[in-house]
Amino acid sequence: MARCFVTRRLPGPALGRLAAVHEVNIWPSPLPPTQAELTDHVRDAEGLLSLLTDRVDAALIERAPRLRAISNYAVGYDNIDLRAAAARGIPVGHTPDVLTDATADLAFALLMAAARKLPDAIAEVRAGESRPWEPTHDLGADVHGATLGIVGFGRIGRAVAERARGFEMKVIHADTRGDRAPFTELLERSDFVSLHCPLTPETYHLIDEAALQRMRPTAILVNTARGGIVDQQALARALHEGVIAGAALDVTDPEPLPVDDPLLRAPNLIVVPHIGSATHSARERMADLAVDNLLAALEGSPMPHQVPAPS
Ligand code: DGY
Repeated sequence: MARCFVTRRLPGPALGRLAAVHEVNIWPSPLPPTQAELTDHVRDAEGLLSLLTDRVDAALIERAPRLRAISNYAVGYDNIDLRAAAARGIPVGHTPDVLTDATADLAFALLMAAARKLPDAIAEVRAGESRPWEPTHDLGADVHGATLGIVGFGRIGRAVAERARGFEMKVIHADTRGDRAPFTELLERSDFVSLHCPLTPETYHLIDEAALQRMRPTAILVNTARGGIVDQQALARALHEGVIAGAALDVTDPEPLPVDDPLLRAPNLIVVPHIGSATHSARERMADLAVDNLLAALEGSPMPHQVPAPS
């Protein structure tokens, strides 16, 4: 029986399977532990089930001498220092596939909402400000027939492409590594740019002022990947100055965005609070995978969804 720390309650029955064979301590609050609280709880743990809001860095790993498995309840793992884990031989698990469709659905919902200015239209009705039908009011952009540029053509990027084809969109995609020419070409040709690459040192602020300047003045940016991929100050300026037509973000840096963050005053901006995978089934299946990973590693087997160790 191993001692495990789980940094939040998870939906569905999966944690019951973990608790049936191991000693499980679940952080009781809906808010994340502070770094000090996390360190304190991981100090004696052999297994850690973390969330993307938990920073599992080298200092934390060093202070957890018994730790032998880290299972992240997310497909992304930019919150974990993979090198520090690998140096100790600690496997890191994640939860791919089960949230692909939910996240792609949300990316498409954001794209449509921004294109057709749904938040403004809804607010107008609620405020009693809607007018009789009028030829030039509330006009948005066509989604059908438009060009969608997908940055990061992995599982989620491909699932967004499938949805886009159903809307008769033209889909182009670019690899974010190495060859920059297709990336700039994608920015120049796309009516919508949707981000689906992981956050790495290479993709941090990939969408910066120069990238935004390359986009069309009618273009809309959608980000359901990680907030750090977009330079938010540059985005705020671009929206104020009409460099691009709009943006829809599921992710920001930081999360949550403080209510007085200047970005929130930018026009034509939709921000939702990182809900890409927030469906009942996706979140329960993520819990299943996270528990499967932890159980496997604690019994000395490879995790079914193990993050490759950095080279
Ligand atoms: C992930 O899994 O990385 C998402 O951002 C949250 O589900």
